[in-house]
Amino acid sequence: MAITTDPVAINHWIACGWPGKVPVGGYWDTVLLGQNIRVSRPQPDIYEAAILTAGALGRRLPVQSRFCCIFTTLGQDPRPLPQIDEFDEPDRRLINCGSVGVNTSPYRMIENFLDMAHFPFVHTNILGAEKKTEVVSHKIEHRKDVDEIWATDCRFFQPAASKAATGGQMTDYTYRVMSPFSIMLYKNVHNDPGRNDAICMFVQPKGEAQCLAYMPMALVDDVNTTAAIIDFQQTIFLQDRVILENQRPALMPLAPAAEIPTKADVGSVTFRRWLKQMGISFGIYEKAAA
Ligand SMILES: [Fe+2]
Repeated sequence: MAITTDPVAINHWIACGWPGKVPVGGYWDTVLLGQNIRVSRPQPDIYEAAILTAGALGRRLPVQSRFCCIFTTLGQDPRPLPQIDEFDEPDRRLINCGSVGVNTSPYRMIENFLDMAHFPFVHTNILGAEKKTEVVSHKIEHRKDVDEIWATDCRFFQPAASKAATGGQMTDYTYRVMSPFSIMLYKNVHNDPGRNDAICMFVQPKGEAQCLAYMPMALVDDVNTTAAIIDFQQTIFLQDRVILENQRPALMPLAPAAEIPTKADVGSVTFRRWLKQMGISFGIYEKAAA
């Protein structure tokens, strides 16, 4: 696996583990953008990271522990981590659903997370129903002040929107793409109007088409057990993984005509345009982009 030299890709804080992966007093060896690294945990709340070359520890890397994940960066001037206030609200359930490995590019994963049109077909009778496939029109914008992509006013009929849902209902979503490697959604809480569950996906690109996804959540849910919530989330994600690993090419094509957009794909078009503008080359299907 080649170590990337793409300056755009390396200047991000990227998830490289979660507490359940790194034992206290121990370490977890992993790969970030093709670079072997070691994440260690000398004390319960202290994490360290360093480059690993042929089994020897090299340059120390900065670390931040946030959103139930451990983040590091290979760059000298990384884009700051996003602000997600829900993780600081005292009555929230913070749940890290662990990590899932997916053999595709990080952007395919972000794009799939952003796409509601697949709910009825991939998550049949859970997040969507085959008789109600309409994606109600919604607004997608690149918010230049924060340099994020937001999709607002998303509504979709869902037979079982979450572990806390008791029947089919219209669910409101807001999506927020915070970097090429991170996305989250806000989903209305049916029994507590005015509040939203916050569900994130932080992608760790090990290589251009090998990723780990971390899915921490800050929920308003005092009913379900943590195990049941994790089970629900993993069921959904494993359904996505089958689809993601069959997409070709695995790398992300950015040429305008590479894939024909439909109305429901407007989020995907906006996301790809944003990637192209930032000039990222890691994980991009060069042949199509040329
Ligand atoms: Fe999905």
